[in-house]
Amino acid sequence: MIPYIFQAAIFATSCLALPSTGDASGLKVDIDWNNVLIECKTTATLQSVANPPLLSKSSTRENALSSLKSVAADYVRYVPWFPYPRLSVPEIKPPVKNETHCSTSWDFTYADQLLLDFMANTPNVSHIINFSTTPDWMWVTDTPYEYPEDVTAIDWDYNNGTKLRDPSLKEISEYYARLLSWYVKGGFTDECGVYHESGHHLDIEYWEILNESDSEHTISPELYNQIYDAVTAAIHEVSPQTQFVGLALATRNVTRVRDFLDPANHKPGTPLDWISYHFYATPDNSTTQNEAEQSFKMADTFLDEVAEIEAVRKAISPSTRTTINELGTMDPLGSTVIYDNYTIPEEYWVWSGGIYAYIFSKLAVVGIDAIGESQLSGYPGQYPSVSMIYYQTGLPTARLRILQLIQNTILIGDKLVQTTGDESQFHAQAFEAADATKKVLLVNKLDKELTIQISDFQNADAKIVDVTTGGNPWRTEGIDGGIRLPSYAVAVITQS
Ligand SMILES: *[C@@H]1O[C@H](CO)[C@@H](O)[C@H](O)[C@H]1NC(C)=O
Ligand SMILES: *[C@@H]1O[C@H](CO)[C@@H](O)[C@H](O)[C@H]1NC(C)=O
Ligand SMILES: *[C@@H]1O[C@H](CO)[C@@H](O)[C@H](O)[C@H]1NC(C)=O
Ligand SMILES: *[C@@H]1O[C@H](CO)[C@@H](O)[C@H](O)[C@H]1NC(C)=O
Ligand SMILES: *[C@@H]1O[C@H](CO)[C@@H](O)[C@H](O)[C@H]1NC(C)=O
Ligand SMILES: *[C@@H]1O[C@H](CO)[C@@H](O)[C@H](O)[C@H]1NC(C)=O
Ligand SMILES: *[C@@H]1O[C@H](CO)[C@@H](O)[C@H](O)[C@H]1NC(C)=O
Ligand SMILES: *[C@@H]1O[C@H](CO)[C@@H](O)[C@H](O)[C@H]1NC(C)=O
Repeated sequence: MIPYIFQAAIFATSCLALPSTGDASGLKVDIDWNNVLIECKTTATLQSVANPPLLSKSSTRENALSSLKSVAADYVRYVPWFPYPRLSVPEIKPPVKNETHCSTSWDFTYADQLLLDFMANTPNVSHIINFSTTPDWMWVTDTPYEYPEDVTAIDWDYNNGTKLRDPSLKEISEYYARLLSWYVKGGFTDECGVYHESGHHLDIEYWEILNESDSEHTISPELYNQIYDAVTAAIHEVSPQTQFVGLALATRNVTRVRDFLDPANHKPGTPLDWISYHFYATPDNSTTQNEAEQSFKMADTFLDEVAEIEAVRKAISPSTRTTINELGTMDPLGSTVIYDNYTIPEEYWVWSGGIYAYIFSKLAVVGIDAIGESQLSGYPGQYPSVSMIYYQTGLPTARLRILQLIQNTILIGDKLVQTTGDESQFHAQAFEAADATKKVLLVNKLDKELTIQISDFQNADAKIVDVTTGGNPWRTEGIDGGIRLPSYAVAVITQS
C-alpha cells in the first residue's frame, strides 16, 4: 500500500490531465438508458447511538450535532444502548413496594438530554427510535446486577438474562408504554400511581422493538414475537400513529425472518410494518491481503443474504418494509479499542464510505426502503472506526461525506438503469432523474487510480470524495468522456 502522503502527491499531479480516449486500461462503463431496472425508493440515512461524547458536557458535542444535522434524513435512527445503562434506561432500579411504601427510580435526565438534542438536530425528517435496552432487573439473573454510577463508563455486562421475571410480559409492555407516554403525551403515571410530567409532545414515527434479538439476551424467536406483540399493543394505546420496526438481526438468519413475518406467529392485528437487519464488514489483520478487498467480498456475501431475505419477505409479507439500519466496517486495529497508538488512516474512512456507497447502490436496485450508515459517534472503547466523525473533534470523516454526496445527488424517484462495468475493479450505477438529468455513481474498489471511459458524460461535472478531500466537502472536476478515479474514491458524475 502506498502511504497516504505519497498517494496524495501522485494524485495531485495525475488528475491534472483528462484521460484520452482509447486509454490502454480499457476500463469503461456501458449504460443502457432504455433499460430501467427500478425507480429509486431507497433513502440513504444513518444511525446515532447514544454515548458520552454526545452528552452536554462533552467538548465535541456541538461539532457532532452539526455533523448529524448535515446528513439528517428520513428514518434516521436513534439507539440508547446497553453499555451505558444510565443513558439508556430511565428506570434503572426496580420499583420498591410494600404495605407502607412505594417508590420508583424514573429519571430522564440523560435520556432527555440525548434524545432532545438528537430530535433538535434532525428536523423535518421521520425518526426511528429504539430504546432497545430493557432494564436488567426485569430479567432473571443469577446475581443481582450493579450498574456503574459513572455515566461515561462502558459496561458490557448489562443486558444479561434470557427469561423475563414477569412472563406475562405486563411489566415490559408497561415499561415501554410509560417511556413512550413521557415523550409523546407529556407524561405518565408510574407504578405507584404518581404522575410524572415531561411536557414533551414529540412525533415518534417509528419505534424499534429490542436490539439484535439473535444476540442480546439470546431471545428465542417465540419469545421475541411474544414481546413484540405485547409491546406494540401497549405502545399503540399511547401512540396510535407509531409504526414498528421488528427483528433487528445481527446475523441475517432467514429462519428468524420467516418466523417473524409469518402472521400465524403473532396475535391477530399485530402490525408487521418494518423489519431491520445489520451488516458490518470485519476484515482481519492476520494477512497482508488488503482490508478493503476483503470487505468488498464480505459485502457481496451480505448482498446474497439480502436477496434470500427479500425472497422470504416478498413471499409471506410483501407489505412489510425494510430498513438495513446498521451498515459499517471495522478497521482491525480500531475495531472496539484503538490498538496502541494507531491512527485510523485517511484511506480507511474513504474505502469504508465506498462500502456504504456500493451497498447502497446494489440495494437501491433491489428496492430496499432505507439504508442507514452506522454510526454517528464512535470513540476508543466504542467502535472508533465505525464512527462517521473524528472522535477527537466531532467533525465529519469521509464516511459522512460519502453519505452526504449520495443524499445530495441521488433522489427518490430517479430511474436506475442497466449499467455495466468491470465489477472486479469498480462499481458503476447510472441514474436518470425525472427532469432527464443523467448521473452515474462510481466506487473504486481498489487501492490504485483507475482510468474509466464513460462516453455518455461529456462536459459533465464529477463530485469526488477521496483521500485528498477526506472529511472536507467533495471536490468537483470537469469530465469529458472519462474519469481518473483515485484509489477507493467515490464519485457522482452529473450531466444536465
Ligand atoms: C417498606 O420499604 C421501605 C423502603 O424500602 C422500608 O423503609 C420499610 O421498612 C418497609 N416496610 C416494611 C413493612 O417492610
Ligand atoms: C423545517 O420545517 C419548518 C416548518 O415547515 C421550516 O420552518 C424549517 O425551515 C424547516 N427546517 C429545515 C432544516 O428544513
Ligand atoms: C453477564 O454476562 C457476561 C457475559 O456472559 C458475564 O461475563 C457477566 O459475568 C454476566 N454478569 C452478570 C451480572 O451476570
Ligand atoms: C446491538 O446489539 C448487538 C449485540 O449485543 C451489538 O453487537 C450491536 O452493536 C448493537 N447495536 C447497537 C447499535 O447498539
Ligand atoms: C434496536 O437497536 C438495537 C441496537 O442497535 C438493534 O440491535 C436492534 O436490532 C434494534 N431493533 C430493531 C427492531 O431494529
Ligand atoms: C437461525 O435461527 C434458528 C432459530 O433461532 C436457529 O435454530 C438456527 O440455528 C439459526 N441459524 C444460524 C445459521 O444461526
Ligand atoms: C496487525 O498487523 C500488523 C502488520 O502486519 C502487525 O504489526 C500488528 O501486530 C497486527 N496487530 C494485531 C493487533 O494483530
Ligand atoms: C503511545 O504514545 C505514548 C505517548 O507518545 C507513549 O508514551 C507510549 O509508549 C506509546 N505506546 C505504544 C504502545 O507505543
